[in-house]
Formats: sequence, structure tokens, C-alpha cells
Amino acid sequence: MPLAAEPQIVLACRDVHYSYLDRFPALAGVSLDVHAGERLALLGANGCGKSTLLKVLDGLVFPTSGTVHAFGRPLTEDGLEDAQLSAAFRSRVGFVFQNADTQVFSPTVREEIAFGPLQLGLPPDQVQIRIDEVLALLEITELADRTPFQLSGGQKKQVAIASILVMNPQVLLFDEPTAALDPRSRHWLIELMRTLAEAGKTLVLATHDLERLPDVADRVLVLAEDHTLVADGPTATVLDDRALLREVNLIHGGS
Ligand SMILES: Nc1ncnc2c1ncn2[C@@H]1O[C@H](COP(=O)(O)OP(=O)(O)O)[C@@H](O)[C@H]1O
Ligand SMILES: [Mg+2]
Repeated sequence: MPLAAEPQIVLACRDVHYSYLDRFPALAGVSLDVHAGERLALLGANGCGKSTLLKVLDGLVFPTSGTVHAFGRPLTEDGLEDAQLSAAFRSRVGFVFQNADTQVFSPTVREEIAFGPLQLGLPPDQVQIRIDEVLALLEITELADRTPFQLSGGQKKQVAIASILVMNPQVLLFDEPTAALDPRSRHWLIELMRTLAEAGKTLVLATHDLERLPDVADRVLVLAEDHTLVADGPTATVLDDRALLREVNLIHGGS
């Protein structure tokens, strides 16, 4: 009988420590593997280090100590200075920031979405085709000529997501994707994440929203307020562990 294939590891951290300004700890010895095609949630109370961990996985900040690998290669500051390596990594991993305002800056939605692929050197006519495809996929074709900063919060989020999806990344990092969205936008985004997962994308998302967790994640890593990882398991198992959730300050009292 053939051996079951090991799932491919797309991103990996080993004993990662990170402190802001050498003084404010954010990650304290975090190790994890992200497997191709999974939906992984980073769960934890405010300030435990979720956003920092996503930034580490996206090569936006680099560990004080410990190692990060992406697609089997070390992810380092020096490595990303190489334009070719950087472009290859950036086209494979996309990061949807928590606050869409920090992610949209172009005069029109179409230019906004074009920015990344043009930056990567894709031919302009091909970029326009891809933009039309992603606008249609997200059902926001009517926003194409609007000014991003005049849009609603939910629409800005859609544009920010379009500007990432247009690169067709293999891995998508979402920071608090459902926070600050109205119920309709939240529903839309949860359905989109489901569609992306079904299409084979790898999703890593930071959240403290326990209620929507089963809809968005298969596996959950729990970060404690001391910036260590304290649990790693299937979503239902983690959600059933009330003592753990109380300990990491995600629920209160006897609930
Ligand atoms: N730019 C920064 N300067 C100093 N400390 C920061 C900065 N960003 C985050 N921190 C600190 O790092 C820790 C982890 O923050 P963060 O990763 O944003 O947590 P989370 O996303 O889980 O809320 C917190 O204690 C936070 O105060
Ligand atoms: Mg955060």
C-alpha cells in the first residue's frame, strides 16, 4: 500500500521571538507549520501577537531570533532584497490588512487593483484582463471607476481583497477579516474565504471572533497573552476547551 503523502508545508516558523523596539515583546518562541490548502486560524486576545505573526509570515518583519521558511526556503531580510526572490514570494503570498484604509491609495479602483501586478512586471493588457476577472469574481465591476477612499468600509475591504487576488497568490493571510464589517459584508467575506479554500488556496487568518471560527478555519492555533502558542488543534476541539479559552482571556466567567 502506498504511504499517504505528507501535506506540503508552505510556511514554517521555528522558535520565533519578536520584540518591537527591543522592548515590547510580541512573539515568544512560536513554532508552526502551515500546510498547503488548509484554513488555519491564529486565535488570541488583543495584544497577544496575532498581527505580528502574520507580518512575520509575510516577510514584513523579521524575527529577533528563530527562523522562518516559505516554500522550503529561508525567508530573510537579505533574501527579500533580491528583486527576483522578492517578486516570487510576493506573488505567492498575499496579505489582507485589518484596516483597508492602509491598503487602498490609488485614484481609481481599477488602478488600485492594477498596482501589484504592474509592479511585478506583468504586461499591461494581461493585467487589464485579470482585473476584469477579479472584479467579476467579487461582483464589484460597478466600482471599477470609483475612488477607493470614497467607498464604504465594506467596499474598501472588497477592493483591498481584489488587489491581492489579482496576483493569484497561493497563500492568503487575513488580519481580523470580519472585524468592523456589517453583517452583509461579513457574510460575503466568509463565503469568499470558503470559495478560495475550495479552489485550493491556503488561508491563514488572525481572529478573536469565536462565533465565526467554525465557518472560517479547520485548524486553530491559540496564542496566550504571554505571546506563546498554547494550543494547536481542530477547530471544534479548541472551541470545546472552555478552560483554555478562559485562560487566554477569550471568554469570561462560567460560560
Ligand atoms: N508598532 C509597535 N510598537 C510597539 N509595540 C507594538 C507595536 N505593534 C504591536 N506592539 C505590541 O506587540 C504586542 C503584539 O501586538 P499584535 O501583534 O498587534 O497583537 P494582536 O494582533 O494579537 O492584537 C502587543 O503587546 C502590542 O502592544
Ligand atoms: Mg492584531
